[in-house]
Parts: sequence; structure tokens; C-alpha cells
Amino acid sequence: MVKPIRYKTIEWVGGLDGQLRLIDQTLLPGECRVVTCEEIEPLWEAIRNLRVRGAPAIGVATAYGVVLGIRKAPTTATLFEKLGEACDYLSRCRPTAVNLFWALDRMKRVAESVRTMPVDAIKARLLAEAQAIRDEDAATCWAIGQAGQHLIQEGAGVLTHCNAGGLATAEYGTALAIMYAAREAGRRFLVYADETRPLLQGARLTAWELAQAGIDVTVICDNMAGLLMRQGKVSLVVTGADRIARNGDTANKIGTYSVAVLARAHNVPFYVAAPLSTFDLATADGTAIPIEERPADEISKGFGRVTVPEGVACYNPAFDVTPANLIEGIITEKGIIRPVTQEVIEQFFQDGTCKAKEKG
Ligand code: MRU
Repeated sequence: MVKPIRYKTIEWVGGLDGQLRLIDQTLLPGECRVVTCEEIEPLWEAIRNLRVRGAPAIGVATAYGVVLGIRKAPTTATLFEKLGEACDYLSRCRPTAVNLFWALDRMKRVAESVRTMPVDAIKARLLAEAQAIRDEDAATCWAIGQAGQHLIQEGAGVLTHCNAGGLATAEYGTALAIMYAAREAGRRFLVYADETRPLLQGARLTAWELAQAGIDVTVICDNMAGLLMRQGKVSLVVTGADRIARNGDTANKIGTYSVAVLARAHNVPFYVAAPLSTFDLATADGTAIPIEERPADEISKGFGRVTVPEGVACYNPAFDVTPANLIEGIITEKGIIRPVTQEVIEQFFQDGTCKAKEKG
């Protein structure tokens, strides 16, 4: 499949004494700079300030963060102490993307399973697990692309919100993997990228990725989606997800819910693309999903320019929840979950496949 990004979004270089390298996404599209993290604190800062972002990429970065947190422990006892501290610290970084907590649970389980091994062997096992999480994410995103690419017809107009591309994952992306796969299959189509206020992930990141891959992309302001749909320019909406509750309610970047409502009003199918690691079956519905609230100055002084009078309040929730009934289907690495109901999701997780629900 097309590989749009020249550098790896997240890469561990070297052995246990190596370093984690990340593309600093806050600098894109002006500059593509790689930053290195050798301690857990700079990684925490990188996740918190969206240098690395997007639910699956946050999961991968978190797994490596655990390695950074434990790698200097001299004994097994200190390693497990550091592991507890690292998990606690990282869990306070960003609250909404469930992949962060999923990765922490997986790293903790692996550590427990090798507790009786020599301390260096435990460290090596944890690094191997973080690498496996990274590699699996790339393979998963590729499979999501294959599962959903038929939804993009020749000449389609596809709207997406935020960035659910290679920058938001280990490779390829989720919503954007579908576009890369459809392009690879020879179809031509136009993507409308919502600019995605306040941090402009759509304008800065999605447009950057798609343009490099040779996919036709046009950036629109978030408040233009309704007009485009009314003009008949949008035949499909695909977004990513940060957390999907057991009933299918889906948290994603703020503004996704508005796009889903518009899509329903204009009879445009609205799909979510996400790996199974983004499902949170312990959360019954969207009301229980924690929504991150970010600093007001992301709105009032976005990118350095004062755009709100001094002293005026700004409210800045980073995510919203799209109710399951507005979602046509959820495209996963195992196929498309459709219709999006609790019953179908539970059945899907029991079977480990969606063969009964969707083909083609
Ligand atoms: O605040 P961000 O940039 O981390 O938000 C990212 C999103 O909302 C993405 O759409 C989501 O994480 C899916 S990424 C495949």
C-alpha cells in the first residue's frame, strides 16, 4: 500500500539502551522534525502536548514509555515498583483514547507473566512487547484499509475529520488507510479534510499526508461541511475513533458528532474506522467516556495569534461522542461491524470475526 510518510511516526532505535524517536506533529506541515525521548518525562510531555497523537499512536508511544520508565531498574523488585509508577504517571497523560490504557494493561500483564525471570530478561521482554504493539498496529491498519476500501467508489467525495492517518498510528492510519487502499486499487476520488479547530489536525496533518500520497485533498473549515453535503459533493464520511463504548457510541475529535448529524440529515453514510484496541467493552455507553478538556488558550491564542478578547472564557473539550445510531458501520481489521448495536458488537467480540454481519 502507498506509504505516505518518509519517516516513521514512532520508532525505537537500538536495544534496551536505545531511544524512542517521534515525528513532532506540532511542527507540521512547516517542518518535519524527529524528536528523541530517552526518559519517560519527555515522552509524557510529547503525548500531553500532541507531538505524538491519535489513539493508536498514543497506545504505541505509551508502551514504549513503560520501557523508558523501567529500563534502569537494578532489581526485579525495583522494576515492578517503577512499572507501577510509570503506569500511574502515563495514565494521567490524556484521558479519552482508550488505547493508552489498553497498552498499559497489556504491558503490565506481560511483566507479570515473566516476573520470575532475571531482571534483564523482563526488560527485554517488555521492549519486545512494545515493538510487537507497534508492528501489530501497522498490520491492523493495513487490514482496516483492505476491509473498507470498497466503500470508496470511483469519483467519490469523501469527508474526514481530524487526522486518522499514518501520523495517528504506527503506519497507514485507520480512516486514511481506507483511502490509501482505494487509491492502490486504482480508484480516483476527492477527499475533503475538515480543518479541525482548534489544533488543525485536518489542515496540518491529514492534508500533508494525503498530498504526499498523491491523493486529491481539499481543506475546508469545519463550518462548511453542511454546505458541501447540500451541494452533493460528499458521498461518504469516514473518521477515526478514540474510544468506542459497548453499545457503539464513539468518542472522536470534537466536531465529529456535528459531522455525523449533518451526514444523517443529508443521507450520507457516516463510517468510523478503528482497530479492536479502541473498543472499551467495560464502558456501557458514551455518557461514561471521559472527555479531555484542554487549555483555553488553544482557542484564544491558537498558533500564537490572539483571537479572543483578554478575560473572555473559552470552553475547549477535545472530543465529543457520536451516538451509535448515527454510525452506518465500524470498519475494523476483522471486517465491518454493521449495524452498530450492542448486540452485534458483543457477538462480534465473541466470534472474533464479523463474518455473519458484513461481506462486501
Ligand atoms: O487530539 P488528537 O489529535 O489525539 O485526536 C485524534 C483523533 O481524534 C483521531 O481521530 C483518533 O484518535 C483516531 S486516530 C486513528
